[in-house]
Amino acid sequence: MKDREQESDTGKKSKGMHFSIITAFPEFFNDFLSTSIIGRAVKAGLVRVDLVDLRPFGRGGYRQIDDYAFGSGGMVLMAEPLSEALQTARAAGGGEERDFVVYPTPQGTLLTQDIVDTLACQEHVILVCGHYEGLDERFTERMVDLEVTIGDCVLTGGEIPAMAIIDAVSRLIPGVVGKSEAVENDSFYRGMLDCPHYTRPASWEGIEAPEVLLSGNTAAVEEWRRRQAVARTVSRRPDLLARSGMKEYVRGVYLAFTAETADDCEVEILRNLEAFGDSYGVARVFLIVPKPDARESFREVLKEGRFGRIRLMPSLKHATDWIAKKEGPPLVTEVCDVVKSGARHWLELKRLFVEKGEPVLFCLSLKNGDEYRWEQKKNGVCCGFSMLPLQEGLSFCGKAAVLCDRFLGSR
Ligand code: ADE
Repeated sequence: MKDREQESDTGKKSKGMHFSIITAFPEFFNDFLSTSIIGRAVKAGLVRVDLVDLRPFGRGGYRQIDDYAFGSGGMVLMAEPLSEALQTARAAGGGEERDFVVYPTPQGTLLTQDIVDTLACQEHVILVCGHYEGLDERFTERMVDLEVTIGDCVLTGGEIPAMAIIDAVSRLIPGVVGKSEAVENDSFYRGMLDCPHYTRPASWEGIEAPEVLLSGNTAAVEEWRRRQAVARTVSRRPDLLARSGMKEYVRGVYLAFTAETADDCEVEILRNLEAFGDSYGVARVFLIVPKPDARESFREVLKEGRFGRIRLMPSLKHATDWIAKKEGPPLVTEVCDVVKSGARHWLELKRLFVEKGEPVLFCLSLKNGDEYRWEQKKNGVCCGFSMLPLQEGLSFCGKAAVLCDRFLGSR
């Protein structure tokens, strides 16, 4: 998220966030803007909300803001009052802020945490609340940047969705919720649902709170919470797994690839692997080189650069033993270059990995078709899982980057 100017308790700078709400019912927002967390954020200047009453921009003595839909149907908010109200909302930004116009409507894209993250990076979010049949489409087409729905249900107007949006965005602004940790542990922050929570009394109506939570064993509590989050996500919202990073939910993620000679693998490839490994949190990258003389040349290469994440090994068996000693036996997974019988879709494997929580070792081939079979035969290591090809025509580094992003990136 873009840094803001004022210092907050999270140590980040914060300038606050500007919202404007165009509504025919500004009184809706009184309690919302003066109560609890949002009320405190407004008072502290972390959130500024301007209410723009649509009514004064209405036409005629009655200040008419809506009219019958052409071709029959209900009432539609007219483009002219909306447009004038929008100019007023923009002017309140001093003409210097870049604005982003949001129209909450059941016809919009579903509001998700990534949309909330995007909105939190805007300077001035202007929310236009619809009523009845909504806004004249010509206004929406010309003026609105994003149409969002808060769920597949129809409300009487856009005011409650506008509050939901402001609430969700505001809590990402440094200083709005007390501890930054609270945001980091949220549902969806890492793409998984939140774990269940309990408080006193430890026993209520004969139902005990989970013992581990009372044990005082922080590591065990953390592990229990992770496992609960995974179980809930897998059973209730498996669709979220595609977008969540699995690093927090498995004991470690490792990559392995083989090279016969130092010429097979340029230093640039090693640098790229070191860099992805670092940014995605890959625990180690194993460079498997069976021939001793080739291994010696690689050792020289690795000595020269900063390759803290790369480990040279004579065989895949050495790599799996190394992992087993540290974190338990890994789920060895071959990333296929061609469709193989028994291979599984990456998303199915990701679900399985987060459920098991064990370390995962992905075996990639440096050149397409250069499979791991020789390695398996030689050392008795069997790739427990085969993954369907990621994408045709990718270079080795391209494959490694796509793999890291699908399994470890959060979207
Ligand atoms: N206006 C009416 N229903 C809505 C919904 N579900 N989401 C956003 N805006 C709305």
